[in-house]
Amino acid sequence: MTELSALSTENRRFDPPPELAANANVTADAYDHASKDRLAWWEVQASRLQWDRGWDRVLEWQRPYAKWFVGGELNASVNCLDRHVDAGLGDRVAFHWVGEPAGDRRDISYAELLAEVSRCANALTELGVGRGDRVCIYLPMIPEAAVAMLACARVGAAHSVVFGGFSAQALIDRITDADAKLVITSDGGYRRGAPSALKPAVDEAVLQCPSVEHVLVVRRTGQDVTWTDKDLWWSDVVDRQPATHQAQSFDAENPLFLLYTSGTTGKPKGILHTTGGYLTQVAWTHWAVFDLKPETDVYWCTADIGWVTGHSYAVYGPLANAATSVMYEGTPDAGGKDRWWSIIEEFKVSILYTAPTAIRTFMKWGDDLPGAHDLSSLRVLGSVGEPINPEAWIWYRDVIGGGRCPIVDTWWQTETGAMMISPLPGVTSCKPGSAMGPLPGIAVDVVNDAGESRKAGFLTLNEPWPSMLRGIWGDEDRYRETYWSRFEGRYFAGDGAKWDDDEVLWLLGRVDDVMNVSGHRISTTEVESALVSHPSVAEAAVVGANDATTGQAIVAFVTVKGSVADDVSSGEAFAKELRDHVAKEIGPIAKPRQILITPELPKTRSGKIMRRLLRDVAEHRELGDVTTLADPTVVNAINEKMGQQTAAPPA
Ligand code: PRX
Repeated sequence: MTELSALSTENRRFDPPPELAANANVTADAYDHASKDRLAWWEVQASRLQWDRGWDRVLEWQRPYAKWFVGGELNASVNCLDRHVDAGLGDRVAFHWVGEPAGDRRDISYAELLAEVSRCANALTELGVGRGDRVCIYLPMIPEAAVAMLACARVGAAHSVVFGGFSAQALIDRITDADAKLVITSDGGYRRGAPSALKPAVDEAVLQCPSVEHVLVVRRTGQDVTWTDKDLWWSDVVDRQPATHQAQSFDAENPLFLLYTSGTTGKPKGILHTTGGYLTQVAWTHWAVFDLKPETDVYWCTADIGWVTGHSYAVYGPLANAATSVMYEGTPDAGGKDRWWSIIEEFKVSILYTAPTAIRTFMKWGDDLPGAHDLSSLRVLGSVGEPINPEAWIWYRDVIGGGRCPIVDTWWQTETGAMMISPLPGVTSCKPGSAMGPLPGIAVDVVNDAGESRKAGFLTLNEPWPSMLRGIWGDEDRYRETYWSRFEGRYFAGDGAKWDDDEVLWLLGRVDDVMNVSGHRISTTEVESALVSHPSVAEAAVVGANDATTGQAIVAFVTVKGSVADDVSSGEAFAKELRDHVAKEIGPIAKPRQILITPELPKTRSGKIMRRLLRDVAEHRELGDVTTLADPTVVNAINEKMGQQTAAPPA
């Protein structure tokens, strides 16, 4: 709690640009309407969608289980496609897709996207996939990724997208937990100028996942692939299907997707989202928080579809609102460190939604790169994934936004499905670095350990919201335990927060054993389990340490088995081997920045590893209270070793 008490003294304010405020989609009265009658207000937002059957009741709340728009029926894919085409918007560009190799481009109109999704839906039906099934999607950022998601939604199957950077082992865990019947993947994708394979990980996974009946493979790079009797080329199966598909309506609570995310224990949680409430809140927030004008805006969310931001704000939100989006396959430095700025200039992007880690990277690369491009089309900037430090906020505003664009710092989670805490660009006078306050229709409370409202403490959500998770796939107990047990009657988000003297809300990062690396959640236990699965490792403790670029970086403290010689374990080759091992078990994003081999880990008398002290070591702070340690000399030895290693950092 000591970390939470550091109250910020940020007093700068940035008002909405007058012209934007005058024409804003949402004005200040939204807060009044929502607070007068929250449920009625969400009903109005739900009416923005096309329902095939109206709901009988807005909300059925049997804590911790919510059902929204009970009895209502709709099809998410129809809401994202058919209704726009029916309204005469078939020629509007849905995606300006930009491949990583220079000149690789595809503009896809709403009519074309509907045709492609219809073909894919017909193919899914042919493969026996329908309502009640799960489909695993493991693809790069290519149009087929969105097509596959929407086709699943169209036939009522739940998709489970697994980030293309995850390893075969991570894929096995997710396919097994979801009991997925079909995997949709590609030969590979482009990463930093070279084709990078995806199919081998799927091949390895399918061998261990008997639930998988077929693998549908998109040809993206043309690289060689091994072929098995479960494999089918997308071009053979999807392309020959009829381009029309009569979509069925599904219950508002029909599962739309599972998305696995890290928790405090090693096993990833399959977060379950359903259809009507999710789409309502995602569509409304996308329209309100970005002040989206679908006729004129060009919107770009830089998140990969493997994360929830990619689901809600690169696919469902923008498509539900008939927006025109950019979708980019590659890394920010592919083809030059100004790649993003040239894309913004080329497509006249007006709304950019990205993460603080990217912003800090660009700051490091220098102002000249964006400075060499015309970014005057931008009018609203968004941030998500971790707290944005005021310095990065100001840089984003000045250098990228030319000092004229409001910044919406949006707080939410995989579990919340959609934005929860954020300014409104035409209403809020923003403080740099703050997500400001809950959106209309959302109720938050900051509480102490006893669940009493306080100025600083734990962030809780005290009313159900439409896009909330409906559970953890296959694990009711874990759902109750993780989110609803710590504070009676409230959802606990795992974040610290504080109100400042102006009633402005500041998010202070995770308070549990979850690290936030480049805006992605990784659990300490998950990385520890990966390290311990290496034959030479006896024990491992992992902490997140502040990092100027990635927010947090992983620092691992490892003890090795007696059979490992000292000169082996102290070598750089061994640290590399461990890092690569973690990459293999989880994926390269989980590679520790630093590995410290130590004879022992600091433990309490009851044998619990004192991570708090290891965090002090990793962040080069003075050590906190060591009185409960079984052997206080252990942590001093580690601290000393850390000092030496940091003085001569590993290559
Ligand atoms: O700690 C918060 C941080 O990211 C966590 C959620 O991670 P994930 O489920 O991967 O979703 C990320 C994208 C929605 C939160 O518990 N977080 C997210 N956005 C912000 C943030 N922290 C501070 N400010 C934000 N804007």
